This record gives sequence, structure tokens and C-alpha cells, in this order.
Amino acid sequence: MSATPTDVEHELKSVDIIVSKSDEKGDITYANPIFFKLAGYEPGELVGYPHSRIRHPDMPKIVFKFLWDNLKAGKDVKAFVKNLSKDGGFYWVLAHVRVSTNPDGSFRNYTSTRKGMSPKARELIEPLYKQLVEAEAIGGMDESLKILEATLKENGATLATFNETMQTIQDS
Ligand SMILES: Cc1cc2nc3c(=O)[nH]c(=O)nc-3n(C[C@H](O)[C@H](O)[C@H](O)COP(=O)(O)O)c2cc1C
Repeated sequence: MSATPTDVEHELKSVDIIVSKSDEKGDITYANPIFFKLAGYEPGELVGYPHSRIRHPDMPKIVFKFLWDNLKAGKDVKAFVKNLSKDGGFYWVLAHVRVSTNPDGSFRNYTSTRKGMSPKARELIEPLYKQLVEAEAIGGMDESLKILEATLKENGATLATFNETMQTIQDS
């Protein structure tokens, strides 16, 4: 059961690095103390459960589709994510999700390393995600993908340069 969202924001300090690891399904296998603190859950309430336990309804589906399509293809992803805490509050991050392999090349885990989102990035991404969520309510991910691709194009980017573009937005 996820919380009812409120407009209470949980602030990240600039030094905070939030880390979690998952298995192939996205179920949490490890997280650092700040991950649990911000999410507002005890470790036992999150370890072994899907990351979607902290999914915020303001997150467009297309962002997670892009994440999983790339992870399954062995590629890293950088994406802005709004997460939902147990108390209904939220926090924004720029997540860098990587695929780790064992020495024999087999799958080891997915690791997400997150830092707080810059104010400039928030100005750009928050209205974009709102637009994507609205488009999905009407026409599903076909519609939100069109908007996402058009927005990237306006910024001289494509889905292929998504990660670099998100980092540029973060640093702008
Ligand atoms: C390592 C890793 C970390 C993730 N971290 C988050 C996260 O912090 N918040 C989130 O909503 N989804 C996160 N996800 C994506 C979730 O697995 C899931 O795709 C997303 O919450 C959407 O869930 P749903 O498709 O069940 O709605 C992460 C996935 C992986 C592999």
C-alpha cells in the first residue's frame, strides 16, 4: 500500500548520495541508510520489495519504460525521478542506474546512485513530466513518447543522447 501523496518535500543535502541495488526484477536487495531515511521506511519494509513501493504517481510511465528497455539491453540510464515517501511526502533525484556483471559476464545486480536534482532541472522537468502524465492518461505511452521525443529534439537531443542530456540539464 503506498501513501497518499502530499505536497511536503523532503530536502536532500548536496552531499547526500542515495544508493540502492536490485535483482533482475527490480526488487530491492540493498540500500544505504539515507535511502531508507528519505523514503521513511524501515529496511525490513523495503528490502525484498519492488522499487515501485516508492513510485510517485507524478512519474510518467514512459520514463520507467525507457529505463527498463535500456537496462535489459545492458545500458546505463540517467533519469530524473520523483519518489514517494511513506508519509506521502516526496523528493526529486537524478538517478544513475547501472548494470553490474560478475567476472564471468553474468548478471550481478542493478545499482542506482542518486543525487538531489538541481533547481534549474526541476524548472524544466517538473512541467515536462506533468505533460507526459497527462498525455498518458489520454493516449497511453504512444502519446507521451511523442512529446518526450519532440522535447528532446527541441533541445538538440534524441533518445540515444538521453543520459547526456539529463546530465546537461542537471548541470545547467
Ligand atoms: C536499481 C533500480 C532502482 C530503481 N529505483 C527506483 C526509484 O527510486 N523509484 C521508482 O519509482 N522506481 C525505481 N525503479 C524502477 C522500478 O523498478 C519500476 O519500474 C517503477 O517504480 C515503475 O513501477 P511500475 O511499472 O510497477 O509502476 C528502479 C529500478 C531499478 C532497477
